[in-house]
Amino acid sequence: MIDFNYLERFSYCAYLAAALQKKSAIALTTDCIKSPPPIKFGVLRRDLKNLLSKIVNKTCIITLFNQSGGVAKTTLTQNLGYHLALKKRRVLLVDMDPQASLTTFMGLEPDELEQSIQQTIVDNKSLPIYPELIHGMALVPADINLAVTEMQLASAIAREYRLKNALATVQDNYDFILIDCPPSLGLLSVISLTAATHILVPIQCQFKSFKGTELLLSTVAQVRSHTNPGLQFAGFVPTMFDGRTAQESRTVKAVQEQLSDIGTVYPPIPKSIAFADASERRVPLALFDKNHSAVSVLKKIANSLDKLEVKQ
Ligand SMILES: Nc1ncnc2c1ncn2[C@@H]1O[C@H](COP(=O)(O)OP(=O)(O)O)[C@@H](O)[C@H]1O
Ligand SMILES: [Mg+2]
Repeated sequence: MIDFNYLERFSYCAYLAAALQKKSAIALTTDCIKSPPPIKFGVLRRDLKNLLSKIVNKTCIITLFNQSGGVAKTTLTQNLGYHLALKKRRVLLVDMDPQASLTTFMGLEPDELEQSIQQTIVDNKSLPIYPELIHGMALVPADINLAVTEMQLASAIAREYRLKNALATVQDNYDFILIDCPPSLGLLSVISLTAATHILVPIQCQFKSFKGTELLLSTVAQVRSHTNPGLQFAGFVPTMFDGRTAQESRTVKAVQEQLSDIGTVYPPIPKSIAFADASERRVPLALFDKNHSAVSVLKKIANSLDKLEVKQ
């Protein structure tokens, strides 16, 4: 253990306190003046900043988005949420797909819900967070009624901000909020992207799925210019990767070459029937088969998400 330069540490904390204008950061600064805590050798400014951002509670809101269906948006939402929860992060999952797959994967019956996200989006009701944690995560479930939202909100003012406004009332209670989008470029996806600090894009390792990313990028550009200028890329996750086929390996290489300038390209998730088996049992993969090779990849991606910075 060695001590950081005292003055540098103090001025850094003071700077952050001023920049963030949060009481907890100011309190930390005061503590640093009174008794500077020892900091392990090798701890970087960025780590300190990450620590402070957790203390001042900047919630990372990640929307999993791709207009194609069946690319593992829902699977990743559940599994990455689970690995973040294992790291003791407070996680809320929000199901924004009328097909309600996430709600089902988490073990609830969409047809039997008393309340769903639909009432929040359409009637401005408070978020119906399920009263118990499921596998360590909180959940806002969806049901099929969400399918008619677009029509119901046809003439509503500021409709794109409905989820963002609803999350604002609860987000201080969570470190991560993961939003599972429907497979479309419609209003529900725009509402989900407007609420997010980050977007995470699962891409199936096939040439046709990769082609769709141009359309996806132009939607993100539109959201940035109209409703959410601060939206950042958390990155791209190649999914359902079968290393035995040359085409899939080429696709992963092309994803890395063409998209790494836009966002991190994470390691590919291997293709495995175990994902379908786990969702049939309504559990994350790690609870179905903790030694499965995809578990370590999911863990790695969750660790990277944990290091994301949220803009003020
Ligand atoms: N890595 C994978 N390998 C094989 N099947 C997968 C994988 N990831 C997800 N699946 C399966 O593919 C199907 C579609 O996944 P899902 O997460 O529902 O996609 P989306 O939400 O994009 O429509 C599900 O049956 C799921 O269990
Ligand atoms: Mg889905």
